[in-house]
Amino acid sequence: MKPKIFITRKIPNNIVKKLEENCELAMWNSEDTPVPRHILQEKIREVDGLYCLLTDEIDEQMIESAQQLKVISNMAVGFNNIDITAAKANGIIVTNTPDVLTETTADLTFALLMATARRIPEAVDYIKNDQWRTWSPMQLTGRDIHGATLGIIGMGRIGTAVARRALGFNMNIIFHNRNKNLRSVEDLHAAYVSLETLLREADFVCVMVPYTKHTHHLIAERELKMMKRTSILINTSRGGVVDEHALYQVLKEHNIFGAGLDVFAQEPINASHPLVSLPNVVALPHIGSASVQTRHKMAELAAENLICVLEKRQPPYRIV
Ligand code: GLV
Repeated sequence: MKPKIFITRKIPNNIVKKLEENCELAMWNSEDTPVPRHILQEKIREVDGLYCLLTDEIDEQMIESAQQLKVISNMAVGFNNIDITAAKANGIIVTNTPDVLTETTADLTFALLMATARRIPEAVDYIKNDQWRTWSPMQLTGRDIHGATLGIIGMGRIGTAVARRALGFNMNIIFHNRNKNLRSVEDLHAAYVSLETLLREADFVCVMVPYTKHTHHLIAERELKMMKRTSILINTSRGGVVDEHALYQVLKEHNIFGAGLDVFAQEPINASHPLVSLPNVVALPHIGSASVQTRHKMAELAAENLICVLEKRQPPYRIV
């Protein structure tokens, strides 16, 4: 008998086929919307494996309704949507998809940094809205990227990949991290500094930490007020790491130059979100890893993780 699995969203066909060779499979197949909680709760009860996304809240109650679940395979590097402690207590293995998305997410982070610094979305709208009358000395002026100081909070895989890109722009790199002696930064000429020094000195503050109860509102009013009036905040990690109300205030009062945000505390957001109404915010719909190649690799890796556990082999990326 093949093990039963449930996939919480449509994933590429070739991955479905591969999973079908090993498993009896059900998939939430409606439009591209998250599976309703009550359906997920029914499904989780009867399956051996769950293939899920960061939009699925797999909390303690959900985990405890599982009867025979052996693995939760998250198609994401972040896993704050899963109660890891409850999974572990119930003997359920949890896996994720790091590495394959590192470079793509670093590309997007750097693109967002540049778009915010040089006000690219505003400039695009300038033409679309028929506002361009003449070339003018201070029109749509932004902040220089080359030669600026980049402060990376969280020098993990993606943070390091962002720093590598920054070297090409002749940026000065400082970082703050749990572990200050990182071999990965040896070639980057990156200096470890305290969080306070980073906030005070960086022209770009780039938040790259996982979201946990320890990093919730890591960047709040106090931290934002330490930043320079000319500096820019970039967040491509998780929205909850930044206090959005405090961020709104400092941006509105022009106490920092701008913010580039790919993530929000409650996703999805829409045009009525306060941060989106501000001209000095570049907001993206959580597309850090969204390249065709990388999303396929993530889907494939999530499938491999899941199959490995069901076949009692070590999965490539196990969290607990
Ligand atoms: C995306 O945010 C991910 O965690 O993979």
